[in-house]
Amino acid sequence: MCGIVGYIGKRNSVDVILNGLRKLEYRGYDSSGIAVIVDKKLHVRKKVGRLYNLRSDILKDPITANIGLGHTRWATHGKPSKKNAHPHMDSTKSIVIVHNGIIENYIKLRNELLKCGQEFESETDSEVIVHLIKRNYKNSLFHAVQETLSEIKGSYAFGLLCKYEPNKMVFARQDAPLVIGIGKGENFVASDVTALLPYTRNMVFLEDGDIAEITAEKVIIKDIGNNIKNREIKSIQWNAAQAEKDGYRHFMLKEIFEQPRTIEETFRSRIYPNEGRIYIEEIGFKDEDIKNISSIHVVACGTSYHAGLVSKFLFENFTGIPTEVGIASEFRYGNSILNEKKMVIIISQSGETADTLAALKLAKSKNCRTLALCNVVGSSVSREAERIIYTHCGPEIGVASTKAFTSQLTILYMLAFDWANKRGNLPKEKLKEYLNELWEIPLKIGEFLKNIELLQDIAKVFVNKRDFLYLGRHVNYPIALEGALKLKEISYIHAEGYAAGEMKHGPIALIDKSMPIVAIAVKGRVYEKMISNIEEAKSRGGIIIALASEYDEEIVTKSDYIIYVPKVNEFMSPLVTVVPLQLLAYYIAVLLGCNVDQPRNLAKSVTVE
Ligand code: AGP
Repeated sequence: MCGIVGYIGKRNSVDVILNGLRKLEYRGYDSSGIAVIVDKKLHVRKKVGRLYNLRSDILKDPITANIGLGHTRWATHGKPSKKNAHPHMDSTKSIVIVHNGIIENYIKLRNELLKCGQEFESETDSEVIVHLIKRNYKNSLFHAVQETLSEIKGSYAFGLLCKYEPNKMVFARQDAPLVIGIGKGENFVASDVTALLPYTRNMVFLEDGDIAEITAEKVIIKDIGNNIKNREIKSIQWNAAQAEKDGYRHFMLKEIFEQPRTIEETFRSRIYPNEGRIYIEEIGFKDEDIKNISSIHVVACGTSYHAGLVSKFLFENFTGIPTEVGIASEFRYGNSILNEKKMVIIISQSGETADTLAALKLAKSKNCRTLALCNVVGSSVSREAERIIYTHCGPEIGVASTKAFTSQLTILYMLAFDWANKRGNLPKEKLKEYLNELWEIPLKIGEFLKNIELLQDIAKVFVNKRDFLYLGRHVNYPIALEGALKLKEISYIHAEGYAAGEMKHGPIALIDKSMPIVAIAVKGRVYEKMISNIEEAKSRGGIIIALASEYDEEIVTKSDYIIYVPKVNEFMSPLVTVVPLQLLAYYIAVLLGCNVDQPRNLAKSVTVE
């Protein structure tokens, strides 16, 4: 997820762009850059690191112009570096691009261009676009874009300048946001309204397939077939702070609601359900490597550790590979049997967690194969691991991890299915079935997120409780742990996640009406057992909040509150059962007036032991 700003009009575009990028830094901050046209010549400045570095560079060597583009980057392809920073120019330095999104077929396009003698400056997928546009350019940037869009696949929001057409900008949008700010004798473009509110409240939201030609006086929007698109001008009443959160009250809530899109971004261009194919381009393990794995050891902390616990069920059920899961701070001082036949999978959103990084280094020192799942390109973990798969869910600002967790799970499903198929444990037809099921998950979560009033009501009922018990079995035991962690870390209420089958071995002594029990009882092999646990708890005065599969009527008489989640394959259920638990924790914390995005005593990344 990156931030884009464009401007054309009477002001100094450099000021507008830098101010706008500052408002968009929450979308990404690996590097930033700006491109302007002065005397029909393109000028580009870019710096690695925070936006401050670019601003300082421009202060030292000022530049002014009436038209320009800016970009702040969250790396997905190509590590944070000056050459990978946007904007990118074509080889003749006549066209420049800033891009947010993922071009799925960029490798194929890049290879075609290389064969034609095209040289590349960067490792990014974005640079491919500007070379294609230059190749298609005759005397209209707009037409060159229309032609190029038929060649590229993926998600994109990009902006272009061309020195032969110095009084216009061209933007295109598909599955990534772009909004035009309408001014008087000036026009603005950005990834979201945050960057534009200081200048105008009149916004035009581009829709998928839109291509916009923007001058200081006029905005023309057409599609690839040259059909005019009349988009409504909307007046935005948010203040800047609200806008940074897209109108959500907290980043955590925004990130919970982003999950349908971030799960899709994570599997986009990696799974092909109808072909029964998985292609994780960056992983690079040979089929032989996969067949030779004797055991897997997943290592992580916190929420990432809970994702690892889910993966144990996936790897052992689908691939047949024995799988251990360890907490990094224990693993690094433990005595695990580590050797070259062991695959150590490291999971870390930040890629900077000290214990997790230390565990990775230990595994490497023992010649283990190492694979990292990470959300931050260029982070310590991503640079240390033998192989790395990125979660593509954009910066996660809320300290409580939500979208990163479901993105981690998405990758773990892909790995389990892929490795099971490669090891002959998952026939193609079953693989297609599971990939289609995974494909549908974003839609199902999106539907669930449309009706969450019950969660707000339940939060009001239990906001003053001091202890919660979360119960789950099988793949939802880790979700019980995760639900409890969410509640305690943002509301400071004590909560315990427990394997439901363990109730009789102690925790059942705790039960009374003062301690609500959240029971994850979706349909599957352990459903009946969960119903028994619920009945045991209820008979001792426990108050039951059950997570149940939609249309389940049996559970109605067993529980005090029922949160229905979409019915999915039981192995996929963690992707849907975690969402109501994220929201329950969020609404309780908000009712308590807690600092949801920055809870006390916590940091987004624990970079010390
Ligand atoms: C989760 O909500 C917490 N913020 C915390 O447990 C986190 O998951 C843990 O610190 C691991 O962080 P990482 O994924 O960045 O390594």
